[in-house]
Amino acid sequence: MSEDEFRGAMARLAAGVVLVTAHDEEDGPHGAPAGMTATAFMSVSLDPPLVLVSVRTGSRIDELLERQPLWAASLLAEGERTIAGRFAMKGRLSDKLLFQEVPHTLGRITGAPLLTGALATVECRTEQRVAAGDHTLVVARVLSVGLPAVEGGPLTYYKGRYRHLA
Ligand SMILES: Cc1cc2nc3c(=O)[nH]c(=O)nc-3n(C[C@H](O)[C@H](O)[C@H](O)COP(=O)(O)O)c2cc1C
Repeated sequence: MSEDEFRGAMARLAAGVVLVTAHDEEDGPHGAPAGMTATAFMSVSLDPPLVLVSVRTGSRIDELLERQPLWAASLLAEGERTIAGRFAMKGRLSDKLLFQEVPHTLGRITGAPLLTGALATVECRTEQRVAAGDHTLVVARVLSVGLPAVEGGPLTYYKGRYRHLA
């Protein structure tokens, strides 16, 4: 099996898109917000409530979540395609600047940005980090959820493209 075949198979798994966020206390005098677009996010357990995100080892967010156990995920709505694109850019200049253009509040528990236009938000605290190949599985306990009254459906990703549910 080639890497292309593996990619091709996984591209056929339709996924919801989230923005993983955290407050980076070491960035600047007051800290700074950071975010990364992810599809490898899932609900893991109901009791206790656990979620998981798989982040590329050595990525900015991996390095941040290694020292910042408090983070959040915003489940993106179909109108947030541009936001997803921006936070997936490699070598982007500054998450702080990007967040200035994205309506959000700061999580009461985590200080992480929570997108105002998201379908739902979760604030959580990392319980376990598992090295898995070239990624790190970050398992976290959900401490609070937000259910904004947002109309419309989810942003999804399938076969290499952002899509809406028909
Ligand atoms: C639709 C989509 C889904 C992605 N899902 C993940 C993911 O689940 N985990 C991950 O580590 N990277 C994922 N990425 C890649 C990161 O968003 C991207 O590599 C990252 O923002 C690059 O910047 P950084 O490594 O400098 O933070 C995804 C990208 C896109 C476009």
